[in-house]
Amino acid sequence: MTEVCKEKFGEGPVEKWTLRSDSVSVEIISLGCVIKSIKTADRNGQSADIVLGYDDLEGYLSNPRYFGAVVGRVANRIAKGRFVIDGKEYKLAINNGPNALHGGLKGFNKAVWTAEAVDSGVKLNHSSPDGDEGYPGNLNLSVVYRLEKNTLSVFYNAQTDQTTPINLTNHSYFNLAGQGTPDIYDHEVTIFADSYLPVDDTMIPTGEIKPVENTLFDLRKSVLLGSRLNELPGPGFDHNFCLWSPGDPQLERKCARVVHPGSGRVLEVSTTQPGVQFYTSNFLDGTIKGKGGASYPKHSAFCLETQNWPDAVNQPHFPDVLLMPGEQYTHSTHFTFSLI
Ligand SMILES: *[C@@H]1O[C@H](CO)[C@@H](O)[C@H](O)[C@H]1NC(C)=O
Ligand SMILES: *[C@@H]1O[C@H](CO)[C@@H](O)[C@H](O)[C@H]1NC(C)=O
Ligand SMILES: *[C@@H]1O[C@H](CO)[C@@H](O)[C@H](O)[C@H]1NC(C)=O
Ligand SMILES: *[C@@H]1O[C@H](CO)[C@@H](O)[C@H](O)[C@H]1NC(C)=O
Repeated sequence: MTEVCKEKFGEGPVEKWTLRSDSVSVEIISLGCVIKSIKTADRNGQSADIVLGYDDLEGYLSNPRYFGAVVGRVANRIAKGRFVIDGKEYKLAINNGPNALHGGLKGFNKAVWTAEAVDSGVKLNHSSPDGDEGYPGNLNLSVVYRLEKNTLSVFYNAQTDQTTPINLTNHSYFNLAGQGTPDIYDHEVTIFADSYLPVDDTMIPTGEIKPVENTLFDLRKSVLLGSRLNELPGPGFDHNFCLWSPGDPQLERKCARVVHPGSGRVLEVSTTQPGVQFYTSNFLDGTIKGKGGASYPKHSAFCLETQNWPDAVNQPHFPDVLLMPGEQYTHSTHFTFSLI
């Protein structure tokens, strides 16, 4: 049985929903559809919050690193913030060097969603008007979070009245030792991907779909993150791993498994999305004051952002990112929390 309850969060319209099963407790806030906390026990029964974030609403109102938020219309980067649909050019707000990042200046992470209880969880809705951040079409969205025993499921759904690109993800930063632990070097990571997307120096994919075989991106067998980060040139992982290819059926697939041997905590992720962005918090720098006064330095968390492939709107051989009127955009991701 999952207990579902809500309360106000701060002054104003934002709600905080709590989903509680025997082994896991999850808090969701209606601002940005944010996952505020996920609490699980370690092998000695000690509970800890394993996602980064803030104690209060003020933190989430600025939230420059998108902690826990749903990101859209199009998560990640679109080269030069432009794309063409049916011969018409659309220009988006540029907010990341020369590119558009994470839905623009006021993306879905800044909206207060409408929430209602559903079986074992909460459903949140948001309507994004035609022209929002430069994107075409009125878009209706819903996100359902459901907690069943030790699995948190996230279901996304959207409809539009004009063709628009869409690519939603959430952006939870995990540290399985407990949020506030200074690094993730002792985590063991497996990503079930045979290929990944190399990027240029502005983090846009070059277009190549590169096999991981014989590269530092081969995470198909568990690797100790600290030693792999030491070998990797650059600040860390911020790459899309390819879980399936255009033309493959959109089935739920195993995506990643992360083990923290110290606490015994294990996170397994499966998804219907074609890609997962593995990000090792390369741009956290300890300046953000997080929950309980924690500071979050570089490499103090990891993200597994299940998603379509970056810049797909401009790369015809990548999976289709356009949603047409009359179609349903749907995808789901499951996070399972266990112990070794
Ligand atoms: C969300 O939208 C669905 C239809 O897409 C509707 O059935 C539901 O009542 C809406 N919920 C809220 C809280 O607005
Ligand atoms: C979005 O929802 C509103 C209100 O329920 C409805 O009138 C409109 O037709 C919906 N738009 C689309 C594209 O489904
Ligand atoms: C939400 O974010 C987490 C962590 O980044 C990721 O593992 C998961 O797949 C995402 N869920 C969805 C539905 O995208
Ligand atoms: C979708 O979002 C993910 C997650 O941020 C991103 O890595 C990917 O590039 C995006 N895909 C498209 C087609 O924009």
